[in-house]
Amino acid sequence: MGSLIRLFRDEDFAAICLLEIMEKGATYPSSVFIRQASVLYPTTFLVAEKNGDLTGYCIGALREGIPSEAWILRLRVSLPHRRRRIGSDLVGTLLKIFLQKKVSVVYLSVAPENGAARNLYMKFGFEDITFKKGYFGEGEDRIIMAVHLSPSRNMTSER
Ligand SMILES: CC(C)(COP(=O)(O)OP(=O)(O)OC[C@H]1O[C@@H](n2cnc3c(N)ncnc32)[C@H](O)[C@@H]1OP(=O)(O)O)[C@@H](O)C(=O)NCCC(=O)NCCS
Repeated sequence: MGSLIRLFRDEDFAAICLLEIMEKGATYPSSVFIRQASVLYPTTFLVAEKNGDLTGYCIGALREGIPSEAWILRLRVSLPHRRRRIGSDLVGTLLKIFLQKKVSVVYLSVAPENGAARNLYMKFGFEDITFKKGYFGEGEDRIIMAVHLSPSRNMTSER
């Protein structure tokens, strides 16, 4: 059975921070962002849960002042649970929520070498828009990807 996808609850905070620490080693900056995102984006901050354990999370945000545009800000699945479609379920659920909110285009940034994430996003129809050198500072290049949403679009990834 797959993971349950649901909205973030306050008690998820520690598990999400742990997920970040285990892989990235970052503590404080990530925790600050996660805490603030839970306040700012309560209806587009999703978690995946299996047997009471947090298996992944995904943060989306509507663009302030331009609500027809949204961004996927974070996506992470815990290492032992990867390749079980949890990432796809999180993104698919988020895109459905965006559509309900009348979002028409969704953006994200992804590292050029992150083939796993790029493959996942392409299965949802995301395409490369532009390459940004040093987008997150020196050595942190990113590709901006985007997908146009419409009610007729199937929000499950193409296998
Ligand atoms: C990217 C990530 C979220 C994928 O989550 P996941 O639950 O393992 O992904 P899924 O099982 O839903 O995979 C969906 C598709 O993505 C692609 N994919 C996922 N992992 C992949 C990998 N390691 N290598 C190549 N393609 C991969 C495949 O096309 C896959 O479909 P398939 O299994 O039918 O071949 C996960 O690897 C992760 O958390 N990575 C670290 C954080 C990160 O990079 N986040 C994205 C930042 S932009």
